Amino acid sequence: MSKTILITGASTGIGRLTAIYFAEKGWNVAATMRTTEKGKDLLRYPTLKVFALDVLQESSIRQAVHDTISAFGGIDVLFNNAGYALVGAFEAMSAEQIQKQFDTNVFGVMNVTRAVLPHFRAKRGGTIINTTSMGGLITFPLYSVYHATKWALEGFMESLQYELRPFQIKVKNIEPGAIKTDFDQAIDYVSTPDYESYTHTAHRNMLDTYKTAPTGEVVAEKVWQAAQDGSYRLRYPVGGVAPVLLFMRWLLPLGGFRKMVRSQVEKGIKM
Ligand SMILES: NC(=O)c1ccc[n+]([C@@H]2O[C@H](COP(=O)([O-])OP(=O)(O)OC[C@H]3O[C@@H](n4cnc5c(N)ncnc54)[C@H](OP(=O)(O)O)[C@@H]3O)[C@@H](O)[C@H]2O)c1
Repeated sequence: MSKTILITGASTGIGRLTAIYFAEKGWNVAATMRTTEKGKDLLRYPTLKVFALDVLQESSIRQAVHDTISAFGGIDVLFNNAGYALVGAFEAMSAEQIQKQFDTNVFGVMNVTRAVLPHFRAKRGGTIINTTSMGGLITFPLYSVYHATKWALEGFMESLQYELRPFQIKVKNIEPGAIKTDFDQAIDYVSTPDYESYTHTAHRNMLDTYKTAPTGEVVAEKVWQAAQDGSYRLRYPVGGVAPVLLFMRWLLPLGGFRKMVRSQVEKGIKM
């Protein structure tokens, strides 16, 4: 029988490409998104269905999980992928902006995971795959709150996998570097005049990394590998510089790594 993946944030970018990748391999795909209109063209894949799911609304999470199980008879892989970045000077961020960043990137993932776990536990199997980020293990300037959400996810998932293993439930984190998607367009950027001489150039230098970044297909392939390899491996760095930077963070003392980051991201800033 065909396997089924439920994907959050499948309207664009990594989620959308992963939905296509799995549908082309013959999997059943529940491509979930806030605005189902955006998924109209995906319906050309006979084994793909589009369901509404906003990770900020628990009722829509429950409904989408219910609809997926009704349509396909079960779920084999949950791909927690929806997310965005709040970027800039921390002092300029409002409490609401910070709350929304955590609600989307952390509590949203927890709520979707909690909605699927009873199903996985009952059938004694299933795989939870999360798009965290290389920014869940290392940091760059201006992404303090975004990093806090992705570091939270890394810690949450690393601990969670222990209690799920007796039920043969696997937990896997996909850790992309910069990937060309709508991610940079969706950035919520904030600054103030006092910070602008730093944030303007550092933000531009960070965005420059997207110019040579790979596209989301490399991540979709990695999700496929994670879904298929049958292992309890937790971490899958992918894309461009991610494996190299994570290796360097492991190799270098923190002071050396920070110096390297500053030399790249603060290029052109007069201090
Ligand atoms: N691209 C990168 O360089 C990169 C690197 C590391 C990690 N990541 C992570 O990869 C994941 C996917 O990002 P992407 O690069 O594919 O960017 P993207 O093209 O902007 O896709 C983000 C997706 O998340 C969805 N989303 C945002 N808020 C949501 C909510 N409340 N409920 C449901 N869906 C929501 C968006 O839906 P709408 O269309 O409705 O806005 C969109 O489908 C994110 O978790 C991101 O943090 C990206």
